[in-house]
Amino acid sequence: MTDIDVTARSSVCLIIGDPVTHSLSPTIHNAGYSALGLPFVMAGAHVRAESLSAAIAGFKALGFRGLAVTMPHKVSIIPLLDELDSTAKEIGAVNTVVHADAKLTGYNTDWLGILNPLERLSDLKGRRVALLGAGGAAQAALYACTSRGAHATIFNRSLDKAQALATRWQCAASTLDAIEEIASCEILINTTSVGMAELISESPISSECLNSNQIVFETIYAPRSTRLVCEAEARGARVIRGIEMFLEQGLAQFQLHTGVKPPDAVMRKVLEVASKA
Ligand code: ATR
Repeated sequence: MTDIDVTARSSVCLIIGDPVTHSLSPTIHNAGYSALGLPFVMAGAHVRAESLSAAIAGFKALGFRGLAVTMPHKVSIIPLLDELDSTAKEIGAVNTVVHADAKLTGYNTDWLGILNPLERLSDLKGRRVALLGAGGAAQAALYACTSRGAHATIFNRSLDKAQALATRWQCAASTLDAIEEIASCEILINTTSVGMAELISESPISSECLNSNQIVFETIYAPRSTRLVCEAEARGARVIRGIEMFLEQGLAQFQLHTGVKPPDAVMRKVLEVASKA
């Protein structure tokens, strides 16, 4: 349990989503506020799609400070904001909102959640990246790859969705059964939902795609080790777990909400404990 002194002066931040009770954002942000003695507090708010507009108006009227935004609101929140940072505009999704000077500004820190852990292991320039999936998380990954000069190919169950995204980001597209093509990539990023919930025992690709020259980035953080992660490790690939993406997007979000550099080690520790619970 984090010890924070909530007073009438506290700046209030919320994580909004549907569902939201599973979120570990309040856990890591409140630990960070507490460690630095910042007069901030974060709570969860269960906001359904049909209530989003009223929720945002209320958030603004109440003078709350910041939002963390999760599914299904990352795109639909955009027209409800006053301003959009250029990166959020290019990705087409918002996961962070800051209320300052009577304006709500939308940002995206999800792409940093992909970029920062990857760049700790490898330079991205000229690398061949297999991006698995063509949904919202894929856009943040594509922004991260293209911003650093990597060559991405989108592999998706539905080829038409992969092709639409490939046109937008000027890259190649194929399907998840293109084993040789995927195997030839140096970096694999899974943004599909295969490996969680009802697909927990599955992997989006055959284990034949995996080898020891690769870095495999799993964006799913529950479970901690998906089937893809286990198979990648068994084949000698270097693995980045979803918890790294969650932490990095949260650190960048903390800085936007508070204007203060986050206490990385404290937030990582509390996340590691909470995600094992
Ligand atoms: P997010 O916004 O989190 O990326 P999403 O937009 O729902 O989530 O995208 C989910 C991704 O998982 C899609 O790429 C989806 O593939 P389709 O475009 O073919 O629907 C992929 N996905 C979901 N279930 C899948 C399955 N059983 N096998 C393969 N891919 C699957």
